[in-house]
Amino acid sequence: MGIHVLSNLSGGKMSEQVPLFLAPMAGVTDVAYRLLARESGADFTSTEFTAASGLSRQDAKSWAKVETHPRESPFIPQIFGGIEDEMVETARLLSKKADVIDLNFGCPAPKVTKSCAGAAMMGEPDKLVSMVERCIEASSSPVSVKMRLGTGKDAITVLDIAERCAQIGVLRICVHGRTLAQKYRGVADWDLIRQVVEKTEPYNVPVIANGDITDAKSASKCLEITGASGLMIGRGAIGNPCIFGQIKTELGWGDFEAPWGAMNEAGQKHWAWNRYVELVDEIGGPYAARNMKQHAISFTKGLPGSRELRPHLHAIKDFRLIGEPLNLAFESFSSRRHNSLAVPEAIAMAEGLKNHEFKR
Ligand SMILES: Cc1cc2nc3c(=O)[nH]c(=O)nc-3n(C[C@H](O)[C@H](O)[C@H](O)COP(=O)(O)O)c2cc1C
Repeated sequence: MGIHVLSNLSGGKMSEQVPLFLAPMAGVTDVAYRLLARESGADFTSTEFTAASGLSRQDAKSWAKVETHPRESPFIPQIFGGIEDEMVETARLLSKKADVIDLNFGCPAPKVTKSCAGAAMMGEPDKLVSMVERCIEASSSPVSVKMRLGTGKDAITVLDIAERCAQIGVLRICVHGRTLAQKYRGVADWDLIRQVVEKTEPYNVPVIANGDITDAKSASKCLEITGASGLMIGRGAIGNPCIFGQIKTELGWGDFEAPWGAMNEAGQKHWAWNRYVELVDEIGGPYAARNMKQHAISFTKGLPGSRELRPHLHAIKDFRLIGEPLNLAFESFSSRRHNSLAVPEAIAMAEGLKNHEFKR
């Protein structure tokens, strides 16, 4: 089997380049953030999961979630649902505009699993495989799947399900190395992902490893253990879309040129925040900016002074005003005029803007 690890000249281990995926994340991976991730080194992005029940009934809000942009190619909307006919109809409808359709069998949220959708489907292998098979038939674009290990530690179904999905012709299988019962707790099981890679190898279907990749070191380790054909990053990319470029640069992959130049961590986050705001502006429309406040807060995480600054940003009612004090804080900090993000002028500005309304 192809393990993507080579030895470098000094005898150390060096990972062979594989594609990097931004994980679909509800409330995070809006169009602007996906474009930002692409510019920052991600090779693939997909929409957050969207309910087949809404899409198949032509609900406008659901369709707004599966918007894309000409620069996002391939375009991969992700759908979920427990009712086979709705999933099949949605796959048919969406395939007219999508390059790939991704089916979600990983969401652990009770509001999803109670209707036997998301990760609950891992407990219903026959139902899941039948759903995938019919979606493949109905869709004019290829279909990929994203799944967990099973519903619990005594119900690991991923090996059987992944093999059957490979047999019926899915394009790609992404495995998050946790069970439904674990939600986001514990450690992702990369050994089990490796077993999935081995099991599906005869079918030549790429397996993408997901769970707990947070930097170049963990990316390289995950590849070494799993032998996967690609890596998917979720939480590690929240507030740090530059992670994709950081991994490529640190592992010496390809000729990725960082658009943020030679900046330090704060400088990179400042670049990314400004670029995100530009992209939101470029995309426009009622939904483009919907996650702006959460992103602003996330960009500060891990930097000194963020705990002090954050409540002041939170207090700003009109999220479109958050950019100004955040910029001021980033500027003072990344240019080393101040040793933390808790810049008094930025805090004063945030306080002053608390009850204001954004005006163009
Ligand atoms: C805020 C949030 C939202 C998520 N939304 C989705 C989703 O819409 N679809 C999906 O397949 N997984 C979703 N996930 C799971 C991630 O795609 C990923 O599988 C998981 O976070 C493990 O990867 P990580 O350890 O790199 O974060 C979500 C995760 C988070 C933290």
